[in-house]
Amino acid sequence: MARTLPDVLRIDWPAETPAPPAQTAQALERAADVLRRGGLVAIPTETVYGLAADALDEDAVAGIFRAKGRPASNPLIVHVSDAAMARELAGAWPAAAEAIVAALWPGPVTVVVPRGPRIPDIVTAGGPTVALRCPDQPLTRLLIATTGRPLAAPSANRSEAVSPTTAHHVLAGLGNRVDLILDGGPCGRGIESTVVDCTVDPPRILRPGPLGEDDLRAALGGPVAVSAADGGGGDEPARTPGARPRHYAPQTPLEMPDDPLARVTTLLAAGGRVGWLTTHTDDPRVRTLAASRDLVIVPMPAEAHDYARRLYATLHALDQRGLERIVVDPPPADGAWVAIRDRLARAAAAGASRD
Ligand code: TXA
Ligand code: MG
Repeated sequence: MARTLPDVLRIDWPAETPAPPAQTAQALERAADVLRRGGLVAIPTETVYGLAADALDEDAVAGIFRAKGRPASNPLIVHVSDAAMARELAGAWPAAAEAIVAALWPGPVTVVVPRGPRIPDIVTAGGPTVALRCPDQPLTRLLIATTGRPLAAPSANRSEAVSPTTAHHVLAGLGNRVDLILDGGPCGRGIESTVVDCTVDPPRILRPGPLGEDDLRAALGGPVAVSAADGGGGDEPARTPGARPRHYAPQTPLEMPDDPLARVTTLLAAGGRVGWLTTHTDDPRVRTLAASRDLVIVPMPAEAHDYARRLYATLHALDQRGLERIVVDPPPADGAWVAIRDRLARAAAAGASRD
Protein backbone atom coordinates (compact mmCIF):
# COMPACT_ATOMS: atom_id res chain seq x y z
CA MET A 1 0.00 0.00 0.00
CA ALA A 2 1.23 3.46 -0.86
CA ARG A 3 2.21 5.66 2.10
CA THR A 4 1.43 8.89 0.35
CA LEU A 5 -1.64 9.98 -1.57
CA PRO A 6 -1.79 8.50 -5.06
CA ASP A 7 -0.99 10.50 -8.18
CA VAL A 8 -4.05 11.43 -10.20
CA LEU A 9 -3.36 11.24 -13.94
CA ARG A 10 -5.95 13.30 -15.77
CA ILE A 11 -6.67 12.49 -19.40
CA ASP A 12 -9.12 14.63 -21.36
CA TRP A 13 -10.27 12.58 -24.29
CA PRO A 14 -13.38 14.15 -25.84
CA ALA A 15 -15.81 11.55 -27.18
CA GLU A 16 -15.71 12.97 -30.72
CA THR A 17 -11.95 12.64 -31.18
CA PRO A 18 -10.66 9.31 -32.50
CA ALA A 19 -7.13 9.50 -31.06
CA PRO A 20 -6.30 10.01 -27.37
CA PRO A 21 -4.32 13.09 -26.27
CA ALA A 22 -0.53 12.95 -26.45
CA GLN A 23 0.15 12.18 -22.77
CA THR A 24 -2.12 9.10 -22.80
CA ALA A 25 0.46 6.46 -23.74
CA GLN A 26 2.77 7.55 -20.94
CA ALA A 27 -0.05 7.61 -18.36
CA LEU A 28 -1.27 4.18 -19.41
CA GLU A 29 2.27 2.80 -19.26
CA ARG A 30 2.56 4.05 -15.67
CA ALA A 31 -0.77 2.51 -14.75
CA ALA A 32 0.15 -0.76 -16.46
CA ASP A 33 3.41 -0.80 -14.51
CA VAL A 34 1.55 -0.46 -11.18
CA LEU A 35 -0.76 -3.31 -12.22
CA ARG A 36 2.13 -5.57 -13.30
CA ARG A 37 3.70 -5.11 -9.86
CA GLY A 38 0.46 -6.21 -8.19
CA GLY A 39 -0.73 -2.70 -7.27
CA LEU A 40 -4.16 -1.06 -7.41
CA VAL A 41 -5.24 1.49 -10.00
CA ALA A 42 -8.54 3.37 -9.94
CA ILE A 43 -10.00 3.29 -13.45
CA PRO A 44 -12.72 5.35 -15.09
CA THR A 45 -15.68 3.54 -16.63
CA GLU A 46 -18.95 4.82 -18.06
CA THR A 47 -20.80 3.67 -14.90
CA VAL A 48 -18.66 4.37 -11.82
CA TYR A 49 -14.91 4.34 -11.08
CA GLY A 50 -13.42 0.89 -10.48
CA LEU A 51 -10.62 -0.24 -8.16
CA ALA A 52 -8.57 -2.44 -10.45
CA ALA A 53 -5.96 -5.16 -10.07
CA ASP A 54 -4.65 -7.84 -12.41
CA ALA A 55 -7.50 -10.40 -12.26
CA LEU A 56 -5.07 -13.30 -12.78
CA ASP A 57 -2.83 -12.30 -9.84
CA GLU A 58 -4.33 -13.65 -6.59
CA ASP A 59 -2.22 -11.47 -4.31
CA ALA A 60 -3.09 -8.32 -6.24
CA VAL A 61 -6.80 -9.19 -6.07
CA ALA A 62 -6.47 -9.79 -2.31
CA GLY A 63 -5.32 -6.15 -2.15
CA ILE A 64 -8.68 -5.01 -3.56
CA PHE A 65 -10.59 -6.77 -0.78
CA ARG A 66 -8.27 -5.21 1.83
CA ALA A 67 -8.48 -1.70 0.41
CA LYS A 68 -12.29 -1.78 0.26
CA GLY A 69 -12.86 -3.68 3.49
CA ARG A 70 -14.95 -6.01 1.31
CA PRO A 71 -16.01 -9.44 2.58
CA ALA A 72 -14.26 -12.28 0.72
CA SER A 73 -17.70 -13.79 0.01
CA ASN A 74 -18.56 -11.02 -2.48
CA PRO A 75 -17.16 -11.84 -5.96
CA LEU A 76 -15.62 -9.24 -8.30
CA ILE A 77 -16.40 -8.20 -11.87
CA VAL A 78 -13.60 -8.90 -14.36
CA HIS A 79 -13.11 -6.17 -16.99
CA VAL A 80 -12.01 -7.09 -20.50
CA SER A 81 -10.96 -5.10 -23.55
CA ASP A 82 -13.23 -7.00 -25.93
CA ALA A 83 -15.48 -10.04 -26.40
CA ALA A 84 -12.56 -12.27 -27.46
CA MET A 85 -10.87 -11.75 -24.08
CA ALA A 86 -14.16 -12.56 -22.34
CA ARG A 87 -14.55 -15.84 -24.21
CA GLU A 88 -11.00 -16.87 -23.24
CA LEU A 89 -11.83 -16.42 -19.56
CA ALA A 90 -15.14 -18.28 -19.62
CA GLY A 91 -15.43 -22.03 -19.05
CA ALA A 92 -18.35 -22.09 -21.48
CA TRP A 93 -19.92 -19.34 -23.56
CA PRO A 94 -23.73 -19.47 -23.45
CA ALA A 95 -25.68 -18.27 -26.49
CA ALA A 96 -27.32 -15.65 -24.25
CA ALA A 97 -23.91 -14.18 -23.36
CA GLU A 98 -22.98 -14.02 -27.03
CA ALA A 99 -26.25 -12.26 -27.91
CA ILE A 100 -25.89 -9.68 -25.12
CA VAL A 101 -22.22 -9.02 -25.82
CA ALA A 102 -22.77 -8.72 -29.59
CA ALA A 103 -25.56 -6.16 -29.11
CA LEU A 104 -24.51 -4.21 -26.03
CA TRP A 105 -20.71 -4.27 -25.59
CA PRO A 106 -18.82 -2.16 -24.95
CA GLY A 107 -21.46 -0.98 -22.51
CA PRO A 108 -22.88 -1.02 -18.98
CA VAL A 109 -23.92 -4.67 -18.82
CA THR A 110 -22.06 -7.47 -17.04
CA VAL A 111 -22.56 -11.11 -18.05
CA VAL A 112 -22.26 -13.93 -15.51
CA VAL A 113 -20.99 -17.09 -17.25
CA PRO A 114 -19.30 -20.36 -16.21
CA ARG A 115 -15.82 -19.64 -14.97
CA GLY A 116 -12.74 -20.81 -16.91
CA PRO A 117 -9.59 -22.31 -15.30
CA ARG A 118 -7.50 -19.11 -15.51
CA ILE A 119 -9.71 -17.19 -13.07
CA PRO A 120 -8.42 -17.50 -9.48
CA ASP A 121 -10.82 -18.56 -6.68
CA ILE A 122 -10.50 -15.22 -4.92
CA VAL A 123 -12.11 -13.38 -7.85
CA THR A 124 -15.30 -15.48 -7.85
CA ALA A 125 -15.41 -16.01 -4.07
CA GLY A 126 -14.91 -19.71 -4.86
CA GLY A 127 -18.05 -19.84 -7.02
CA PRO A 128 -18.46 -21.66 -10.36
CA THR A 129 -19.26 -18.51 -12.38
CA VAL A 130 -17.44 -15.31 -13.32
CA ALA A 131 -18.88 -11.85 -14.03
CA LEU A 132 -17.40 -10.21 -17.16
CA ARG A 133 -17.78 -6.67 -18.44
CA CYS A 134 -16.34 -4.57 -21.28
CA PRO A 135 -16.65 -0.91 -20.27
CA ASP A 136 -17.63 1.81 -22.73
CA GLN A 137 -14.62 3.90 -21.74
CA PRO A 138 -11.84 3.78 -24.35
CA LEU A 139 -9.11 4.75 -21.86
CA THR A 140 -9.80 1.74 -19.70
CA ARG A 141 -10.06 -0.61 -22.66
CA LEU A 142 -6.68 0.73 -23.84
CA LEU A 143 -5.25 0.12 -20.36
CA ILE A 144 -6.45 -3.49 -20.45
CA ALA A 145 -4.97 -3.90 -23.92
CA THR A 146 -1.70 -2.32 -22.70
CA THR A 147 -1.37 -4.73 -19.76
CA GLY A 148 -2.71 -7.63 -21.81
CA ARG A 149 -4.47 -8.74 -18.62
CA PRO A 150 -8.10 -8.70 -17.56
CA LEU A 151 -8.75 -6.37 -14.61
CA ALA A 152 -10.80 -7.33 -11.56
CA ALA A 153 -12.51 -4.15 -10.41
CA PRO A 154 -15.33 -3.47 -7.99
CA SER A 155 -16.50 0.10 -7.51
CA ALA A 156 -13.66 2.22 -6.06
CA ASN A 157 -15.24 2.99 -2.69
CA ARG A 158 -14.98 1.50 0.80
CA SER A 159 -17.45 -1.37 1.16
CA GLU A 160 -21.08 -0.18 1.61
CA ALA A 161 -20.32 3.47 0.78
CA VAL A 162 -21.64 5.40 -2.22
CA SER A 163 -19.84 4.54 -5.47
CA PRO A 164 -17.50 7.18 -6.94
CA THR A 165 -18.33 8.93 -10.20
CA THR A 166 -15.30 11.25 -10.22
CA ALA A 167 -11.58 10.82 -9.50
CA HIS A 168 -12.07 13.21 -6.59
CA HIS A 169 -14.61 10.85 -4.98
CA VAL A 170 -12.05 8.02 -5.24
CA LEU A 171 -9.33 10.11 -3.64
CA ALA A 172 -11.64 11.27 -0.84
CA GLY A 173 -12.93 7.75 -0.14
CA LEU A 174 -9.84 5.58 -0.54
CA GLY A 175 -6.90 7.97 -0.08
CA ASN A 176 -3.62 6.07 0.05
CA ARG A 177 -5.36 2.70 -0.18
CA VAL A 178 -5.05 3.07 -3.96
CA ASP A 179 -1.67 3.39 -5.73
CA LEU A 180 -2.69 5.45 -8.77
CA ILE A 181 -5.85 7.11 -10.07
CA LEU A 182 -6.58 7.40 -13.76
CA ASP A 183 -8.91 10.38 -14.14
CA GLY A 184 -11.08 10.16 -17.24
CA GLY A 185 -13.55 12.81 -16.06
CA PRO A 186 -17.02 12.27 -14.57
CA CYS A 187 -18.79 8.99 -15.41
CA GLY A 188 -21.46 9.36 -18.09
CA ARG A 189 -23.93 6.80 -16.74
CA GLY A 190 -23.45 7.31 -13.02
CA ILE A 191 -24.82 4.02 -11.67
CA GLU A 192 -23.36 0.51 -11.70
CA SER A 193 -23.78 -1.88 -14.63
CA THR A 194 -26.72 -4.21 -15.11
CA VAL A 195 -25.65 -7.73 -14.03
CA VAL A 196 -27.20 -10.60 -16.00
CA ASP A 197 -26.86 -14.29 -15.13
CA CYS A 198 -26.41 -16.10 -18.45
CA THR A 199 -26.07 -19.56 -16.87
CA VAL A 200 -29.84 -19.89 -16.44
CA ASP A 201 -32.67 -20.02 -18.97
CA PRO A 202 -34.11 -17.48 -19.42
CA PRO A 203 -31.20 -15.22 -18.44
CA ARG A 204 -31.85 -13.34 -15.20
CA ILE A 205 -31.13 -9.74 -14.22
CA LEU A 206 -29.37 -9.99 -10.83
CA ARG A 207 -28.78 -6.26 -10.45
CA PRO A 208 -30.77 -3.59 -12.35
CA GLY A 209 -28.62 -0.99 -14.07
CA PRO A 210 -28.38 1.49 -16.95
CA LEU A 211 -29.58 -1.09 -19.50
CA GLY A 212 -33.04 -2.36 -18.63
CA GLU A 213 -35.31 -5.30 -19.38
CA ASP A 214 -36.29 -3.89 -22.78
CA ASP A 215 -32.67 -3.55 -23.93
CA LEU A 216 -31.95 -7.12 -22.84
CA ARG A 217 -35.06 -8.60 -24.42
CA ALA A 218 -34.17 -6.87 -27.68
CA ALA A 219 -30.57 -8.15 -27.51
CA LEU A 220 -31.65 -11.69 -26.65
CA GLY A 221 -34.62 -11.85 -28.99
CA GLY A 222 -36.40 -13.54 -26.10
CA PRO A 223 -37.45 -13.28 -22.48
CA VAL A 224 -35.41 -12.17 -19.50
CA ALA A 225 -36.14 -12.88 -15.83
CA VAL A 226 -35.65 -10.41 -13.00
CA SER A 227 -34.43 -11.23 -9.49
CA ALA A 228 -36.50 -10.15 -6.52
CA ALA A 229 -35.47 -6.70 -5.29
CA ASP A 230 -33.88 -8.13 -2.14
CA GLY A 231 -30.76 -9.88 -3.44
CA GLY A 232 -30.61 -12.16 -0.42
CA GLY A 233 -29.62 -11.51 3.14
CA GLY A 234 -29.15 -13.19 6.46
CA ASP A 235 -26.54 -15.91 6.51
CA GLU A 236 -27.53 -17.35 3.17
CA PRO A 237 -25.03 -16.34 0.48
CA ALA A 238 -26.95 -14.31 -2.10
CA ARG A 239 -26.57 -15.00 -5.82
CA THR A 240 -25.46 -11.42 -6.17
CA PRO A 241 -24.04 -10.63 -2.76
CA GLY A 242 -23.43 -6.99 -3.65
CA ALA A 243 -27.16 -6.52 -4.09
CA ARG A 244 -27.79 -6.71 -0.35
CA PRO A 245 -29.80 -3.81 1.02
CA ARG A 246 -26.99 -2.12 2.95
CA HIS A 247 -25.09 -1.08 -0.17
CA TYR A 248 -24.83 2.34 -1.81
CA ALA A 249 -25.56 4.36 1.35
CA PRO A 250 -24.31 7.84 2.20
CA GLN A 251 -23.19 8.51 5.79
CA THR A 252 -26.20 10.77 6.32
CA PRO A 253 -29.41 8.73 6.88
CA LEU A 254 -31.55 8.85 3.74
CA GLU A 255 -35.32 8.49 3.41
CA MET A 256 -37.67 8.13 0.45
CA PRO A 257 -41.07 8.96 2.03
CA ASP A 258 -44.42 8.85 0.21
CA ASP A 259 -45.07 12.49 1.12
CA PRO A 260 -41.67 14.22 1.04
CA LEU A 261 -43.13 17.70 1.57
CA ALA A 262 -44.83 16.65 4.81
CA ARG A 263 -41.76 14.75 5.96
CA VAL A 264 -39.37 17.64 5.31
CA THR A 265 -41.75 20.01 7.12
CA THR A 266 -41.81 17.68 10.15
CA LEU A 267 -38.04 17.27 10.21
CA LEU A 268 -37.47 21.03 9.98
CA ALA A 269 -40.03 21.68 12.74
CA ALA A 270 -38.09 19.26 14.96
CA GLY A 271 -34.98 21.40 14.42
CA GLY A 272 -33.17 19.08 11.99
CA ARG A 273 -30.93 20.14 9.11
CA VAL A 274 -32.25 18.47 5.99
CA GLY A 275 -31.13 17.90 2.39
CA TRP A 276 -33.92 17.31 -0.14
CA LEU A 277 -33.49 15.82 -3.61
CA THR A 278 -36.58 16.90 -5.48
CA THR A 279 -37.85 17.27 -9.02
CA HIS A 280 -40.68 19.58 -7.84
CA THR A 281 -38.89 22.88 -7.36
CA ASP A 282 -41.73 24.69 -9.18
CA ASP A 283 -44.23 23.78 -6.46
CA PRO A 284 -44.96 26.98 -4.49
CA ARG A 285 -45.04 24.99 -1.22
CA VAL A 286 -41.50 23.77 -1.94
CA ARG A 287 -40.44 27.35 -2.69
CA THR A 288 -41.85 28.52 0.63
CA LEU A 289 -39.86 25.89 2.52
CA ALA A 290 -36.74 26.77 0.54
CA ALA A 291 -36.39 29.94 2.62
CA SER A 292 -35.39 27.83 5.64
CA ARG A 293 -31.69 28.05 6.49
CA ASP A 294 -31.82 24.45 7.69
CA LEU A 295 -32.92 23.09 4.33
CA VAL A 296 -30.65 22.35 1.37
CA ILE A 297 -32.82 21.80 -1.70
CA VAL A 298 -31.16 19.96 -4.57
CA PRO A 299 -33.18 20.25 -7.79
CA MET A 300 -32.91 16.90 -9.58
CA PRO A 301 -33.38 16.26 -13.31
CA ALA A 302 -36.78 14.97 -14.45
CA GLU A 303 -35.14 12.71 -17.03
CA ALA A 304 -33.87 9.35 -15.74
CA HIS A 305 -30.46 9.24 -17.45
CA ASP A 306 -29.62 12.76 -16.29
CA TYR A 307 -30.83 11.89 -12.81
CA ALA A 308 -28.67 8.74 -12.69
CA ARG A 309 -25.59 10.64 -13.86
CA ARG A 310 -26.07 13.20 -11.09
CA LEU A 311 -27.23 10.97 -8.20
CA TYR A 312 -24.03 9.74 -6.54
CA ALA A 313 -22.21 13.06 -6.92
CA THR A 314 -25.18 14.70 -5.18
CA LEU A 315 -25.06 12.20 -2.30
CA HIS A 316 -21.27 12.61 -1.96
CA ALA A 317 -21.70 16.40 -1.83
CA LEU A 318 -24.57 16.33 0.68
CA ASP A 319 -22.52 14.04 2.94
CA GLN A 320 -20.13 16.97 3.42
CA ARG A 321 -22.86 19.33 4.64
CA GLY A 322 -23.36 18.05 8.20
CA LEU A 323 -27.06 17.27 7.69
CA GLU A 324 -29.21 15.10 9.96
CA ARG A 325 -31.22 13.68 7.10
CA ILE A 326 -31.46 13.39 3.33
CA VAL A 327 -34.99 13.18 1.93
CA VAL A 328 -35.55 12.03 -1.67
CA ASP A 329 -38.74 12.24 -3.75
CA PRO A 330 -39.62 8.66 -4.71
CA PRO A 331 -38.85 8.33 -8.45
CA PRO A 332 -41.16 6.45 -10.85
CA ALA A 333 -40.99 2.64 -10.56
CA ASP A 334 -40.68 1.80 -14.24
CA GLY A 335 -38.45 2.04 -17.31
CA ALA A 336 -35.08 3.70 -16.88
CA TRP A 337 -36.02 4.59 -13.27
CA VAL A 338 -35.90 0.98 -12.03
CA ALA A 339 -32.17 0.99 -11.29
CA ILE A 340 -32.29 4.45 -9.69
CA ARG A 341 -35.13 3.39 -7.41
CA ASP A 342 -33.20 0.24 -6.54
CA ARG A 343 -30.14 2.23 -5.41
CA LEU A 344 -32.23 4.75 -3.47
CA ALA A 345 -34.23 2.01 -1.75
CA ARG A 346 -30.98 0.35 -0.62
CA ALA A 347 -29.60 3.65 0.64
CA ALA A 348 -32.85 4.25 2.54
CA ALA A 349 -32.76 0.74 4.05
CA ALA A 350 -29.24 1.37 5.33
CA GLY A 351 -30.28 4.72 6.79
CA ALA A 352 -33.20 3.12 8.62
CA SER A 353 -30.98 0.40 10.08
CA ARG A 354 -28.70 3.10 11.54
CA ASP A 355 -31.52 4.95 13.27
O1 TXA B 1 -20.55 -0.79 -13.25
C1 TXA B 1 -20.01 -1.66 -12.57
O2 TXA B 1 -20.40 -2.85 -12.60
C2 TXA B 1 -18.84 -1.25 -11.68
C3 TXA B 1 -17.69 -0.81 -12.56
C4 TXA B 1 -16.43 -0.52 -11.79
O3 TXA B 1 -17.44 -1.75 -13.55
N1 TXA B 1 -18.46 -2.32 -10.84
C5 TXA B 1 -19.18 -2.72 -9.77
O4 TXA B 1 -18.59 -3.71 -9.03
O5 TXA B 1 -20.26 -2.24 -9.46
P1 TXA B 1 -19.07 -4.15 -7.58
O6 TXA B 1 -18.08 -5.14 -7.11
O7 TXA B 1 -19.30 -2.98 -6.74
O8 TXA B 1 -20.39 -4.93 -7.91
C6 TXA B 1 -20.30 -6.17 -8.58
C7 TXA B 1 -21.60 -6.90 -8.47
C8 TXA B 1 -21.83 -7.35 -7.04
O9 TXA B 1 -23.22 -7.25 -6.77
C9 TXA B 1 -21.35 -8.79 -7.06
O10 TXA B 1 -21.93 -9.56 -6.05
C10 TXA B 1 -21.81 -9.21 -8.45
O11 TXA B 1 -21.54 -8.09 -9.26
N2 TXA B 1 -21.06 -10.36 -8.94
C11 TXA B 1 -19.74 -10.46 -9.20
N3 TXA B 1 -19.42 -11.69 -9.63
C12 TXA B 1 -20.57 -12.40 -9.64
C13 TXA B 1 -20.90 -13.74 -9.99
N4 TXA B 1 -19.98 -14.60 -10.40
N5 TXA B 1 -22.19 -14.12 -9.88
C14 TXA B 1 -23.14 -13.25 -9.49
N6 TXA B 1 -22.89 -11.97 -9.14
C15 TXA B 1 -21.62 -11.54 -9.21
MG1 MG C 1 -19.96 -1.48 -5.38
